[in-house]
Amino acid sequence: MTERSRSFGSAAAAYERFRPGYPDELVDHVLGYAGRPVRTALEIGAGTGKATRAFAGRGIAVTASEPDPAMLEELRTHLPATVTTVLAAFEELIPIDHGYDLVYAAAALHWTAARQRPARIAALLAPGGTFASFGGQLQPADPDVAAAVRAARSAVVDSDEIPSPDGTPPEDPMQWPGSELIRSGRFIDVQQLTVQRRMTISADDYLGHLTTVSAYLTLAESARVTVLQRIRRALPDSVRISADLTVHLARKA
Ligand SMILES: C[S@@+](CC[C@H](N)C(=O)[O-])C[C@H]1O[C@@H](n2cnc3c(N)ncnc32)[C@H](O)[C@@H]1O
Repeated sequence: MTERSRSFGSAAAAYERFRPGYPDELVDHVLGYAGRPVRTALEIGAGTGKATRAFAGRGIAVTASEPDPAMLEELRTHLPATVTTVLAAFEELIPIDHGYDLVYAAAALHWTAARQRPARIAALLAPGGTFASFGGQLQPADPDVAAAVRAARSAVVDSDEIPSPDGTPPEDPMQWPGSELIRSGRFIDVQQLTVQRRMTISADDYLGHLTTVSAYLTLAESARVTVLQRIRRALPDSVRISADLTVHLARKA
């Protein structure tokens, strides 16, 4: 997992170009859940700043932390003035006096170390503060196209998904990290919801997106080129995409 977790910086510009941003509806859910003014936020694994901009755009003073210098460099090129940046992994973050109103992670929490994760998050939060974790992969919405892509990649990439970090079965109503937050006893009112994202993109943009996915980033160059060519041949010129976001929300106990 470590190799995958540190793979993104080599594709920082492509990441910024091909990954979609986060919708207003998601930010509305998080701020609505908080139920009180959110003035300060700490982002874990901010990457090139896609979620940073969504929250900073609401007037929140965001501290964007990210361990990969190339990702942080990309983030800094589109930096809203209210954002502070910190080159640090989650495990290195130091709690501040009074804590943050909000701590959040966008498509990043599964890359952090499991040991004492909920305790570390709780230590970063103000009393009663909100934690949010969200993410979702881009998948072809058409089942036939999805099956063709699976077949095209199968010899090289068995699955491009990330297994549940705590082994929660996919049919359980509360998925990770909600399951982990509940077990820890450090959070109350743990909720899980889905924010729908649908889009239509060109086949080339879908391939560009795949070049930013860790399962492909960690392949040897020749294997990556081969599998992406096979996938391209399986795609229509325009691809309908399902990219629903699974959102977990929790309040510090
Ligand atoms: C899939 S990217 C998500 C980036 C951004 N949050 C977004 O949604 O576009 C995952 C990010 O997690 C970062 N990451 C990996 N290990 C981490 C750790 N231990 N602590 C914090 N961030 C980590 C990676 O460097 C990468 O920028």
